[in-house]
Amino acid sequence: MKNIDLNRIPNHIAIIMDGNGRWAEEHGKERIYGHQNGVEAVRSAIEGAGEIGVKFLTLYAFSTENWNRPKEEIDALMALLVKAIKNELDGLMQNKVRLQAIGNLSSLPVECQSELQDAIEKTKNNTGLTVVLALSYSGRWEIVNAVKEIIKNNIEVKEITESNFSTFLNTTHIPDPDILIRTGRECRISNFLLWQIAYAELFFPAILWPDFRKEHLFEIIVEYQTRQRRFGKTGAQISNTSIFNF
Ligand code: IPE
Ligand code: IPE
Ligand code: MG
Repeated sequence: MKNIDLNRIPNHIAIIMDGNGRWAEEHGKERIYGHQNGVEAVRSAIEGAGEIGVKFLTLYAFSTENWNRPKEEIDALMALLVKAIKNELDGLMQNKVRLQAIGNLSSLPVECQSELQDAIEKTKNNTGLTVVLALSYSGRWEIVNAVKEIIKNNIEVKEITESNFSTFLNTTHIPDPDILIRTGRECRISNFLLWQIAYAELFFPAILWPDFRKEHLFEIIVEYQTRQRRFGKTGAQISNTSIFNF
């Protein structure tokens, strides 16, 4: 943590929390054991992000495509979600964490929806880190939804700009991620925040999610701070800008 420049903390970190099933398999257990152990990793990531002043942490917890998993796994995941929200609520309040959610929330079991809404409501005035849970979420679903809303609202073609379009996404009040992390040894996006990650810095640590801890997050931030984000410009333009900025 001492190697992190606290003046250049990313605003928003998004994480694809992958590898729970393989972690369980490696421990000779059922897949759900991996999901259960993933909760500790979530806690540590939230704690770490809060400690260094990250503003937004988005966690991909369940994708639209995950509905195609066996029913027992889906049921166990939804039950785990309800339990984790219940158990973590006090800690979230103490750490001033504000909880939000993106995705097709109405497709979640009713108990999940009410537990989630309750936690969102109770934490809504907290002023620390905002944790956004992506549940029954997929980037393509979100983009198609935005198009539907634009048509329903009779928005004129000339009014459609990139910034206007993004106000129709689920993430309308959330800045684009600076960092996208995927654990679990896969190097793919799996339909996560397709629009928003246009200029995110990507990290694929070779670790399975239940083993992830805030120290891994800090290592990634240290490496992020060595990267030059050019946004299409030349390297010289960027370093000149930073000279003028200081
Ligand atoms: C990620 O871990 C958690 C969810 C998708 C809900 P996986 O369950 O995908 O674990 P692996 O990829 O099979 O190891
Ligand atoms: C992505 O992981 C979704 C979540 C972590 C919630 P998956 O395990 O579902 O992704 P694929 O199927 O390997 O691409
Ligand atoms: Mg997976």
